[in-house]
Amino acid sequence: MQINPSILSADFANLEAELISISSADMVHVDVMDNHFVPNLTLGPAIVERLSEVSPIPLDVHLMIENPDRWAIEYAEVGAASVTFHYEAANDPISLARQLRAAGVKAAVAIKPGTSVSLIADLIQEVDMLLVMTVEPGFGGQPLLLDTLEKIAQARSLIQTSGAMVALQVDGGVTESNIAQLASLGADSFVAGSAIYNHPDRASQILKLRRLALAATGQ
Ligand code: DX5
Ligand code: ZN
Repeated sequence: MQINPSILSADFANLEAELISISSADMVHVDVMDNHFVPNLTLGPAIVERLSEVSPIPLDVHLMIENPDRWAIEYAEVGAASVTFHYEAANDPISLARQLRAAGVKAAVAIKPGTSVSLIADLIQEVDMLLVMTVEPGFGGQPLLLDTLEKIAQARSLIQTSGAMVALQVDGGVTESNIAQLASLGADSFVAGSAIYNHPDRASQILKLRRLALAATGQ
């Protein structure tokens, strides 16, 4: 069970301290938005590079950008450990996943709430992680969309049938109230922005979320 806090809800004027405050997590989730694929703008490769230099834990970079075929590799080069691109934005997702793996990072594909799991069936052998978005991408602090829950079970079953070692990540509206349900549906990697960064004791919140996810699957 991986708990990856999203720095979208962190204090952007104090990112180094904000990274240190979540050092008991597995990876830090970095949301890159280009104001085209989503109606919000965050940060680019120069900031990701500095984050990777000061972060005590590896970077899980989530690209919410157009044309990831052109830009994703740059995030591998500046120190990301895992690079997630959106299926909806990629021209050639198989080739992109292969390029990322060849660059030595984990390759991951994300689908928006309206995108069917069946569309990525051919891609599952090519990636290390599948991200099922549980909100419309673009902003932190939104409530999880309940219609996305069935997609988590579908995604788990696709991964199981494929026999590939693929992590199943959920991102958007993950809280202490729903993480057990998400884990029991088959998610094993959890992004949480507001649920961790808005909590006064981040380390204890990370531990709590991890314990809830483990308990839900009998671990
Ligand atoms: C939203 C981003 C998420 C966001 C999650 O588009 O991809 O990573 O930070 O924030 P919460 O956990 O607050 O929903
Ligand atoms: Zn994200």
